[in-house]
Amino acid sequence: MGCAISGLAAKAEFGEVTTEDAAADVAAADASCPSEEQIQMIKDSWKVIRDDIAKVGIIMFVRLFETHPECKDVFFLFRDVEDLERLRTSRELRAHGLRVMSFIEKSVARLDQMERLEALALELGKGHYHYNAPPKYYSYVGAEFIGAVQPILKERWTEELEEAWKTLFQFVTGLMQRGYQAESKRQLAVPPKERPDKKNTAL
Ligand code: HEM
Repeated sequence: MGCAISGLAAKAEFGEVTTEDAAADVAAADASCPSEEQIQMIKDSWKVIRDDIAKVGIIMFVRLFETHPECKDVFFLFRDVEDLERLRTSRELRAHGLRVMSFIEKSVARLDQMERLEALALELGKGHYHYNAPPKYYSYVGAEFIGAVQPILKERWTEELEEAWKTLFQFVTGLMQRGYQAESKRQLAVPPKERPDKKNTAL
């Protein structure tokens, strides 16, 4: 079973200026959401992963910065850190990793309410426009998450489970991308003087 992104969440989430654009963008997407079977596998494995979310968050980001150093440059606080080993004990990275893992937890909890999950991910994508974190980087995160949780799940890890998590990440990051694009279009419609500065983040 699969599902296409509905577009309803976009309509609910975006203001008058961008509703049409956002809905068109979202309707054009054909990201499949996880099947019933995959949802069950994701939920079962999450029960194990959640005991280690702080650890997974850190490992995931250190791996991301190792494999794609350009992602580190997006983070004001981490961009000048040369020795990635130092980040393993960084309170800031721990806090950030936990925020991202909490988002994953919420996503898992909303797997039975796809429209709510869509709304959540679209909103996150909008936020990432303001963090200067472009969509080309989002797809890296799923692979690093998988690399971080595999050793925790040990023999419980299967190819099917990997496929299920990949599907969820593709679904969520596809929506984030749509949110990012809609927000960038919305900002272009705002006269430059009234545009808020991109935050490029407290982190
Ligand atoms: C699956 C992909 C991703 C997920 C689920 C995710 C999730 C999150 C979450 C939950 C936050 C906390 C703030 C909020 O709720 O808006 C956040 C903040 C942020 N993310 Fe992501 N993110 C992803 C990918 C990325 C990538 C690839 C980058 C950079 C290359 C990035 C850069 C940032 C930055 C700079 C912040 C703001 C940090 C701060 O000031 O607290 N994110 N992200």
